[in-house]
Amino acid sequence: MSGAVQAFVEDALPDAVPDAEIEDRDTEQARADERLRRLAAGLPPTGAAVVTGTAGSSVRATDTASAVDAAVAAAEEEWLTTWRSVYDASYAGSWDAMGEDFTGWNSSYDGSAIPVAEMREWRDAAVERILAAAPRRVLEIGVGSGAFLVRIAPHCERYVGTDLSPLAVATLDRQLEAHPALRQRVELHARPAHLTDDLPAGSFDTVVINSVVQYFPSDAYLTAVLTGVLRLLAPGGRVFIGDVRNLRLQECFTAGVQQRQAPAGTAAATLRVLVDRAIESENELLLDPQYFADFAGRCGDVAAVDIRTKRGVADNELTRYRYDVVLTKAPVSVVELATAPAVAWGSAVATLEELATRLADAEAVLPLRVTGMPNARLLDDLSALDRLPGAGVVRRSAAGSPAPDPEEFHRLGARLGLWTATTWSQAGDDCIDVLFGPPDAKLDDAFTGLFPPLPPANRQLANTPSALALQAGPSE
Ligand SMILES: C[S@@+](CC[C@H](N)C(=O)[O-])C[C@H]1O[C@@H](n2cnc3c(N)ncnc32)[C@H](O)[C@@H]1O
Repeated sequence: MSGAVQAFVEDALPDAVPDAEIEDRDTEQARADERLRRLAAGLPPTGAAVVTGTAGSSVRATDTASAVDAAVAAAEEEWLTTWRSVYDASYAGSWDAMGEDFTGWNSSYDGSAIPVAEMREWRDAAVERILAAAPRRVLEIGVGSGAFLVRIAPHCERYVGTDLSPLAVATLDRQLEAHPALRQRVELHARPAHLTDDLPAGSFDTVVINSVVQYFPSDAYLTAVLTGVLRLLAPGGRVFIGDVRNLRLQECFTAGVQQRQAPAGTAAATLRVLVDRAIESENELLLDPQYFADFAGRCGDVAAVDIRTKRGVADNELTRYRYDVVLTKAPVSVVELATAPAVAWGSAVATLEELATRLADAEAVLPLRVTGMPNARLLDDLSALDRLPGAGVVRRSAAGSPAPDPEEFHRLGARLGLWTATTWSQAGDDCIDVLFGPPDAKLDDAFTGLFPPLPPANRQLANTPSALALQAGPSE
């Protein structure tokens, strides 16, 4: 959540569940909840959506004229309009130096500002990955206050930035006037993500969509946006989709947040209701990482899909629950990691020292995947989840050896001169896998198969935030 945005959002977006007595919801509310659930479940499949139009026109036209399709299109339209107002309001305050504005990046746990040093680390890790591929022609969707533009555009011949918020674009544009060398290679447009039709096919080597997809109305909208931007990429080009919120861990995160916010002594049963309500009224799009693997599998244009948990020594909600995805457009030669030999944490190796010895061995087989490391950063939130009655949906690993902090594995890899990456694990939603090598890996290789296919979560791969607008009913 960015911007002094949280406070605006609470006013601007419809509440899925209004503040009523928890134990005694009235029947009207119960009916509204049921309508929301039915509408969310009954959304038309991705393939029915077609991105059309110009700014301000209908978001998605559907090929059937059913009332549900019309309601969904209207809800998506309303969703974009609402977020446009939210972000315009958020950007209306004064801005810090160009590309250095982290106002409103607040912790969901206690509302305090995430320290600027942690935000810089978050930004720098993502920028480093994008720059590793030496981008020259970049499209950034959701350019915001220019945190990425300022660092990437100086290396490019052309940098096109778009944003839903006209105020963001106008302010950034004004700031760029003081930087003529940069200004001449940058082009800015105020428009929603799905409007890319007027940009020439094959004209970019990189598309950046960082910390933006959570404001999309649905996964169908995201699918339409990704399909559109793949058309804009040259062969071998990449889409960097950064800072995606993990749906599989939503319940764990929400339990941690609700426990932190509830008065001391709140009963576990009440906490369970609060967690369920918060999940039902979630107004951001969360995605199972498998969504991206499935999208890549369906879309003949994608040669490699690389999904990694976020880097950073800072232990905060961004490094616990978010991930980055890189899709590389075919044709391109890829580095396949799915077949890398694997050892299980807790049985084959149980300490960093054992792992270091194994990797330093001259005979070590690389690449090597170490599977099922309990993610040490989730422990507090998992224990909040464990207090709740009822079976949760987070897929838990069998209890194994505790693992060190995820960044320890990156430090070990760096010490041994090995390429290192962390991703979500098949062993459990509460675990990560770490891959070391291959020895000749380069930062800009197109890796694929890093993320292992996950067993199906017995639910959808995304929530549908715009269903909240459907629940609120038609607006005049
Ligand atoms: C959290 S900020 C991220 C800004 C920047 N990408 C960064 O990482 O610093 C989210 C940005 O996405 C923009 N945004 C939200 N929904 C959008 C949409 N549907 N199309 C384009 N931009 C959108 C917002 O206006 C806002 O500037």
